[in-house]
Amino acid sequence: MPSLCSCSLVLLVLSCILSTVECTIDRKSIVQQYNLKLSQSHPYSPIQVGNGRFAFGADVTGLQTFLPHNTLSSWGWHNSSLPTTPNQTLPEDYTGVDWWTHDRLVNYEQPNPTQKDISQWMIANPHRINLGRIGLWFDGHNITEQSLGGKTQSLDLWTGVISSSFILNGEKVNVTTVVSPETDTVAVKISSKLLTQGNLGVIFDFPYATGKNKFDTPFVGLFNATSNHTTRLSASDGRAVITHTLDATTYVADIAWEGNATLARLSKEEHKYVLKTAQQAETMSFTATYAQHAGNTTCTSVEDVLKTSTAWWADYWSSGAFISLPTVTNSSANELQRRIILSQYLLAVNGAGKDPAQESGLVNNGWYGKFHLEMVFWHLAHWVFWSKWDLYNRSIGVYDRFLMSSFDRAKKQRYDGARLGKMSDPSGRSAPGEINSLLIWQQPHPMYFAEMEYRTFPTAATLRKWDHILGPLADFMASYAFYNTSTHVYDLGPPMYPVSENTPPNATVNPIFELAYWRFGLAVASAWQVRQNKSVPEKWTHVHDNLAPFPVENDTYVTYEGIRDMWTTPEYTEDHPGLLGIYGWLPPEPRFNLTIFENTIAKVHETWNFPFSYGWDFPLLAITEARRGDAERAVKWLLDVNNEFDELGMPVGGTRVPTPYFPSAAGLLLAVGMMAGGWDGREGMVWPEGWRVEAEGFVRGM
Ligand SMILES: *[C@@H]1O[C@H](CO)[C@@H](O)[C@H](O)[C@H]1NC(C)=O
Ligand SMILES: *[C@@H]1O[C@H](CO)[C@@H](O)[C@H](O)[C@H]1NC(C)=O
Ligand SMILES: *[C@@H]1O[C@H](CO)[C@@H](O)[C@H](O)[C@H]1NC(C)=O
Ligand SMILES: *[C@@H]1O[C@H](CO)[C@@H](O)[C@H](O)[C@H]1NC(C)=O
Ligand SMILES: *[C@@H]1O[C@H](CO)[C@@H](O)[C@H](O)[C@H]1NC(C)=O
Ligand SMILES: *[C@@H]1O[C@H](CO)[C@@H](O)[C@H](O)[C@H]1NC(C)=O
Ligand SMILES: *[C@@H]1O[C@H](CO)[C@@H](O)[C@H](O)[C@H]1NC(C)=O
Ligand SMILES: *[C@@H]1O[C@H](CO)[C@@H](O)[C@H](O)[C@H]1NC(C)=O
Ligand SMILES: *[C@@H]1O[C@H](CO)[C@@H](O)[C@H](O)[C@H]1NC(C)=O
Ligand SMILES: *[C@@H]1O[C@H](CO)[C@@H](O)[C@H](O)[C@H]1NC(C)=O
Ligand SMILES: *[C@@H]1O[C@H](CO)[C@@H](O)[C@H](O)[C@H]1NC(C)=O
Ligand SMILES: *[C@@H]1O[C@H](CO)[C@@H](O)[C@H](O)[C@H]1NC(C)=O
Repeated sequence: MPSLCSCSLVLLVLSCILSTVECTIDRKSIVQQYNLKLSQSHPYSPIQVGNGRFAFGADVTGLQTFLPHNTLSSWGWHNSSLPTTPNQTLPEDYTGVDWWTHDRLVNYEQPNPTQKDISQWMIANPHRINLGRIGLWFDGHNITEQSLGGKTQSLDLWTGVISSSFILNGEKVNVTTVVSPETDTVAVKISSKLLTQGNLGVIFDFPYATGKNKFDTPFVGLFNATSNHTTRLSASDGRAVITHTLDATTYVADIAWEGNATLARLSKEEHKYVLKTAQQAETMSFTATYAQHAGNTTCTSVEDVLKTSTAWWADYWSSGAFISLPTVTNSSANELQRRIILSQYLLAVNGAGKDPAQESGLVNNGWYGKFHLEMVFWHLAHWVFWSKWDLYNRSIGVYDRFLMSSFDRAKKQRYDGARLGKMSDPSGRSAPGEINSLLIWQQPHPMYFAEMEYRTFPTAATLRKWDHILGPLADFMASYAFYNTSTHVYDLGPPMYPVSENTPPNATVNPIFELAYWRFGLAVASAWQVRQNKSVPEKWTHVHDNLAPFPVENDTYVTYEGIRDMWTTPEYTEDHPGLLGIYGWLPPEPRFNLTIFENTIAKVHETWNFPFSYGWDFPLLAITEARRGDAERAVKWLLDVNNEFDELGMPVGGTRVPTPYFPSAAGLLLAVGMMAGGWDGREGMVWPEGWRVEAEGFVRGM
């Protein structure tokens, strides 16, 4: 049974619609305790409003006035022009690279040194675009953030509304900013006497795509490449449609305002448009809807957007799971509660689109705006534990959509079934890369998701939803495993990269996490067959039963079979401690030996170079500690000094990844979900002694 519980806004306790869980926590007061209250712009992290597919990042004015924070979407992408190098002018010219793989050549999607230009084009294209900037306009006066007095800004998490105010030339200016949960619309209301003087307005500007930088942070797009793109204005009463064309990419900004105002291009050669009130009005209200096609926008008002946003967010907070930590008596609990609430807000804003989120969500671009299939687990699994199935279902369809390209990938490499790619754009193409082409841990994620879904919804519909996906993925897994005639076991790799991406690929064989995950995935795929009264392919069973044993050295698990000096080689202790995933992330399996694992975790504590760890490493450690029953340590990992969340709740990246790095936030919620909901064999919660924790609606893990 789904453990959904929804509470009305007013009478939380009395009006709970109960299924299996009672909701008794005063969610609203806990959520609002963490409302953002700011008094200046943050040069790196914007204050955001958004709907999971579209987000608007603002500075202290509630708009993009002083800092060009981004407006990103799940659908806005652009291709730069193709190279003109002979024989490298089309994606079809790119051939990849052949590597020896168990006595045959396999073609991998890696940059080809003899085709540098088209290889790089395939990596950098398409890239996600910044749809545009909306800021206050001061009629050419040199107003800076320092010119403003009395700056206050708040974000009400319960309604999804930003309220900003400041004083300019002795007059108060109030700005309300909100995004529609239904359309990609930002709605803005400005009130100030300054509007009547004609030198306060709103400017809309449209940048060209950059496409050059892997990490395009904190600002995306070029506002000075004005001759490389066009904007066209079509205005009518109270409405203007600006069509923006960047090479083959076209989209519209449909702007609608209330009252007597005009929108006009600021100067001929640029892409700047100004909206000014034309009469003695002290308020200005407008909506700006971004869409791929003109005519695909509906006219909406600021009041409508405020209403739908308020209702959507109240429902978001009221449904699914919730947790209350002892925030008054313990400052660690308070900081953890802050991270939980702000992560919940930010993931609903940044990580609930048609495709899974990129690491930096809709804040800025990492990896050209692309998303990574091995990270789908970290981005999406928390929705399951928190019983937020609607949001989960928005992006889980990616496996269905990418099935065809995955079949092609496997076929080209002469494997059976379907092989999932890695660094992806919405078409399912995987960007060339040595690591990209040699990772394998993305492959069993769908088995994990399918199994978690089936435990909550054990229906024929769930079986059908995943059947055509799990079968081909398992076929690939079985055919990828290589039967070693001297050891009589199936090997994984070489060549390959394990989770930690830091071992020599041509020597990496039988990495422990991947062995465990392969067995897990094949077991789920087989159970899926049995549940449908279908026979289990013999090959799956044979591979599952005869996969190489977990690599052990000196009674300690190691990253892969034959690794040398693992605990004393900095390279090996400066990345994801992926090997711990076999106990925590995954349930223990028959081959698992707790004594050996305890030696392993002791070694990790003793030797690991944690300042190099980042992102989901800390939630991974927390989940492992929780499964071991060490709640103190689990909490400590979630609050580790190397696992920072800034004032706005943005998870800070590391030395190798940009900020924000949302797998940290999503991983935190996953860890908290498991600590609150338990797992098979552990019914109760796992929290430090003396913590009074209330939790409701969590889904139990495996
Ligand atoms: C970019 O080019 C690729 C390859 O030609 C194409 O499949 C894709 O649709 C293009 N995307 C955009 C946004 O133009
Ligand atoms: C392009 O390809 C053709 C045939 O595939 C070959 O003859 C020619 O030398 C190539 N040109 C370059 C510049 O590599
Ligand atoms: C792995 O082996 C292939 C040959 O099969 C070689 O081309 C490649 O450079 C090797 N990679 C590394 C990282 O040594
Ligand atoms: C605007 O004013 C700031 C100081 O407030 C000054 O640093 C800056 O140079 C001025 N810019 C222009 C274009 O005058
Ligand atoms: C701005 O908002 C504050 C608080 O709601 C209100 O008291 C004030 O009158 C508003 N000022 C203007 C100019 O709208
Ligand atoms: C355009 O702006 C970028 C920064 O956004 C800057 O690096 C570049 O030099 C500018 N180019 C020109 C031609 O002004
Ligand atoms: C803009 O177009 C010109 C002419 O095609 C080109 O040389 C230049 O590189 C383009 N600028 C950018 C930022 O793509
Ligand atoms: C709008 O304002 C302009 C300029 O102030 C004025 O000429 C026009 O009559 C006004 N229109 C309406 C419908 O009020
Ligand atoms: C608007 O978008 C929907 C899907 O989002 C599509 O089905 C419909 O055809 C579009 N309408 C127009 C006029 O483009
Ligand atoms: C908060 O709880 C943690 C975990 O039990 C504990 O280590 C810490 O000392 C507590 N802090 C305070 C201020 O009580
Ligand atoms: C195993 O233990 C022996 C003896 O202590 C030591 O020499 C060897 O380096 C250890 N092996 C590994 C992989 O740590
Ligand atoms: C686990 O490993 C230890 C150390 O190698 C061994 O002594 C023990 O028998 C193993 N336990 C099981 C259940 O296999």
